[in-house]
Amino acid sequence: MHRKLAAGNWKMNGTGASLAEVEALAADHADAGCEVLICPPATLLSRMADMAGPGIAIGGQDCHAAAGGAHTGDISAAMLADAGAHYVILGHSERRADHGETDADVHAKAQAAWAAGLTTVICVGETLDDREGGRTLDVVHTQIAGSVPNGASPERVVIAYEPVWAIGTGKVPTLDQIGEVHGAIRAQLDDTFGTAAGTGIRILYGGSVKPGNAAEIFGVADVDGALVGGASLKAADFGPIIAALGASDG
Ligand code: PGA
Repeated sequence: MHRKLAAGNWKMNGTGASLAEVEALAADHADAGCEVLICPPATLLSRMADMAGPGIAIGGQDCHAAAGGAHTGDISAAMLADAGAHYVILGHSERRADHGETDADVHAKAQAAWAAGLTTVICVGETLDDREGGRTLDVVHTQIAGSVPNGASPERVVIAYEPVWAIGTGKVPTLDQIGEVHGAIRAQLDDTFGTAAGTGIRILYGGSVKPGNAAEIFGVADVDGALVGGASLKAADFGPIIAALGASDG
């Protein structure tokens, strides 16, 4: 069984000065009791990989589906790996909204990422409209069916359940709501990829995870960690979240 995963998504935040936060985390959480991942902007990847040390894995926030070629401004999975990444976030709702990424796009990117040896953190989640319309489980099921390629395994895939309405808003689903969706995702992974794969694939919760709510979220069944945006930018916030996950990891 893989260790639980505390993943930070820095989004379009951070310059060289921010590396001090990672230095502080590496010093304070060398033996965190869980796996720690930070996904900085691409400009910081190799510098962060050089200084993070063995206790912190580094990941990209997106990759192109092609191995290379005429795609100005894009980054291939092999380039991420070459810069020191072991993970890549794919299909984040901000990319689905800002760049029109479809499930098929995410599926193709995931195959490219696996070919480069990266573990993919594939994001799914409903909008507020979906939630209020009672469509949450259907939407998430469809996104996973369309986004996660055949051959998914615990080495290749982490799922992040991130309700769009909870991201950056300070709003969080109830623990029952989180448990319901995570349980449904687990059942779908078991059905689709077999119990050995489905049970081992980590399912993260994301959306306004903070030091003050992390422990209770980590107590929910089938929550194997978190994907953290705003609260991952400062060691003083991300550190307690990492500690809460480590403490929950039996
Ligand atoms: P947030 O972002 O923690 O700032 O809500 C989470 C995410 O988008 O991954």
